[in-house]
Amino acid sequence: MTKQEKSWQHRLDGSTDVLAVDFVESLSYDWRLYQYDIVGSIAHARMLAAQKIITKAEFEAIQAGLVEISEQIAAGKFVFDKTQEDIHMAVESALIKKIGDPGRKLHTGRSRNDQVATDIRLWMRDEIEAIQSYIVQLQRAFVTLAAKYTEAIMPAYTHLQRAQPVSIAAYLLSFVEQLARDYTRLADCRRRLNVCPLGSGAVAGTTLPLDRQQTARDLGFADITYNSIDAVADRDFCAEFIFCGSLIAAHLSRLAEDWILYTAAEFSFIRTADAYCTSSSMMPQKRNPDMLELIRGKTGSVYGALMAMLTILKAQPSTYNRDLQEDKLHVFKAADVTSQCLRMAAAIVSHTTFNTDRIAAGLDRGFLDATALAEYLVRKGIPFRQAHGVVGGLVALCEKEGKEKLADLSLAQFQAACDKIEQDVYQTLNPAGVCQSYQTEGSGGCASAMSQVKYWGERLKKM
Ligand code: ARG
Repeated sequence: MTKQEKSWQHRLDGSTDVLAVDFVESLSYDWRLYQYDIVGSIAHARMLAAQKIITKAEFEAIQAGLVEISEQIAAGKFVFDKTQEDIHMAVESALIKKIGDPGRKLHTGRSRNDQVATDIRLWMRDEIEAIQSYIVQLQRAFVTLAAKYTEAIMPAYTHLQRAQPVSIAAYLLSFVEQLARDYTRLADCRRRLNVCPLGSGAVAGTTLPLDRQQTARDLGFADITYNSIDAVADRDFCAEFIFCGSLIAAHLSRLAEDWILYTAAEFSFIRTADAYCTSSSMMPQKRNPDMLELIRGKTGSVYGALMAMLTILKAQPSTYNRDLQEDKLHVFKAADVTSQCLRMAAAIVSHTTFNTDRIAAGLDRGFLDATALAEYLVRKGIPFRQAHGVVGGLVALCEKEGKEKLADLSLAQFQAACDKIEQDVYQTLNPAGVCQSYQTEGSGGCASAMSQVKYWGERLKKM
């Protein structure tokens, strides 16, 4: 056991077990909050001076000292001492070392409890903006790729079985829609977390006349928190932030899964650039989609962070408990992995081409035009349920006779199934033609894809 100089050395005997020092510290990871911690401290000190709790000269000494510390940390010249526990104590003790007595006044009317709650919110606001910018980059990559393929057709799958023909562009833009929800979900999260806990103190506020509105304004918060007991314990926003990351990861994992399949020889729908593949140490022919597999795999880390965060919150007694210190490990992890995967996905999307000839050559498989044939019968006055049955029978007939597509049936065979069918049926029976004739807004058809590309191109230009 060794003796350390601590802010509470008059209460405790100052002896600390090295195991406990390592166990309790968060400096090894919360140092990355330093800019936010310092900005928050400057705002707090400025307010203390405005309220005449400290003098203007003391504020100026505090501000100058903190700016210097910030520069030292940024330059990698700051010595982090984990016996200081966390970034808040590390900065404060460096300040006291640097400027003496005025430094000892910084923590007036403040606790690390409201300080850390403020720091994470400040950090998260910036992080959300960064993640949103990566989302937009990825959306742009999708739209650029989609613009090349509005007229190219691919099978859409449900249950991984061939379903209906769609424009490749419409398929690609389905991810742009998912990402747009991820973007606005983060904006909602940011709006809710953008309130300032400073002035809540340890749990009950303070008897000193702090101007909470001033620090909130100074730090760009939209408002203050209105209950100190809640404010020091609230980490809802951390769970919400990780949930936003989890859905981004879920969306990226679905893209990854599709494209891993699409690169397989059995599909051969796409080719991603060599830069995003690796080979095998043993099998010389291999071209493995490792980056996509890792995007899929890293989803586990983000979901894990969400589970961890929710579990940390579970059944904690009111209000602040040291359990909450663990929050940062998981929000940092979720933010880092989400950002990394979004950026990797944007690079891959920008370097992928669709093998349109190969896809087109396979469009006759899977009876992609069957639903369109049922709708042809609807136009001839047949109730849809009955039409569905007729076409189901025709598909079964094709399979029985070894015919690959409905168009291989003779007119006599069609008419035996339903006397409303005429020669014009053959115009319906072709996947590319079907894709040109979807009528509904937002369909997977070529015209719809074209207008979606235009819409997103313009919208993303403004972001
Ligand atoms: N490092 C701590 C955390 O991240 C700071 C708050 C500590 N507060 C306390 N009263 N021990 O939660």
